[in-house]
Amino acid sequence: MAIQEWWILFLGCCIFFISADSTLLQNKVTDNPADQLVAALNDNRTAHKSSTLYSSPGLACLALQYIKAYQGDCGAVGGPNAKKPADTEFAETFAPNCGVKVETLTPITGRLLGCETKYVKPDEAFSEILMKNNKSLEILYSKIHTEVGAAVSSSDGGSPYFWCVLFSNGTSNSSFVFEGGAPKISRPGCFSGANDQCNGANALYQIPLLSVVVGILVLVLYNLGV
Ligand SMILES: *[C@@H]1O[C@H](CO)[C@@H](O)[C@H](O)[C@H]1NC(C)=O
Ligand SMILES: *[C@@H]1O[C@H](CO)[C@@H](O)[C@H](O)[C@H]1NC(C)=O
Ligand SMILES: *[C@@H]1O[C@H](CO)[C@@H](O)[C@H](O)[C@H]1NC(C)=O
Ligand SMILES: *[C@@H]1O[C@H](CO)[C@@H](O)[C@H](O)[C@H]1NC(C)=O
Repeated sequence: MAIQEWWILFLGCCIFFISADSTLLQNKVTDNPADQLVAALNDNRTAHKSSTLYSSPGLACLALQYIKAYQGDCGAVGGPNAKKPADTEFAETFAPNCGVKVETLTPITGRLLGCETKYVKPDEAFSEILMKNNKSLEILYSKIHTEVGAAVSSSDGGSPYFWCVLFSNGTSNSSFVFEGGAPKISRPGCFSGANDQCNGANALYQIPLLSVVVGILVLVLYNLGV
């Protein structure tokens, strides 16, 4: 192999690893729109002298299931044709799908749901989609809640975007507990509290793709015998 070829390979590998590295840097816990929504919500609550709510991954996973029950039908959220999943769905479908122990389900003390065709940042989703009416503020500031779980999803990795926040009055260690202890991550969609990185705007796959593209580029350069 010519020296030049090695050099290109070396450069290619550098680019690959730099790309992989920046991917790692982006893997911050906060890089998840559902976590950012919970942060905005808790900031607003504390500014209003309400308590900070525990960010429950189990409850948040149920929120994502709740969204999925709408099957992408934005028109069923609010308005004259508003629908909502039956309460029995929690025990029958949502909890099993999440791997949440049914016996640890506790009362849902509030819910906020919104759907928009356009993706907005989590703090805007909070103030402009979820907080639209006066009842939302009442739900937000309720003293009954102790826990919160948020989710954002798109039906097919694109528009429309559903945002869902569920509140509960359970205690953090004994409610919405996962079988085996670890959160069961489901895609597509993002949910809060599980310390996982998740990209809401770009169908959740943008970052790994970048590495793949650079990887392919390196291979192509190599095959061209540059
Ligand atoms: C909390 O949210 C409500 C509704 O969006 C808004 O009117 C209020 O100004 C917010 N409070 C703070 C301190 O950001
Ligand atoms: C919301 O609250 C404000 C002030 O309390 C009131 O003037 C307004 O009519 C309320 N809007 C709705 C839709 O209830
Ligand atoms: C939670 O709220 C429900 C009703 O919304 C109530 O029946 C229950 O006692 C509450 N649990 C706790 C632990 O406060
Ligand atoms: C919750 O967990 C903490 C620490 O693991 C423990 O000290 C506390 O007693 C638990 N509370 C309940 C209600 O189980």
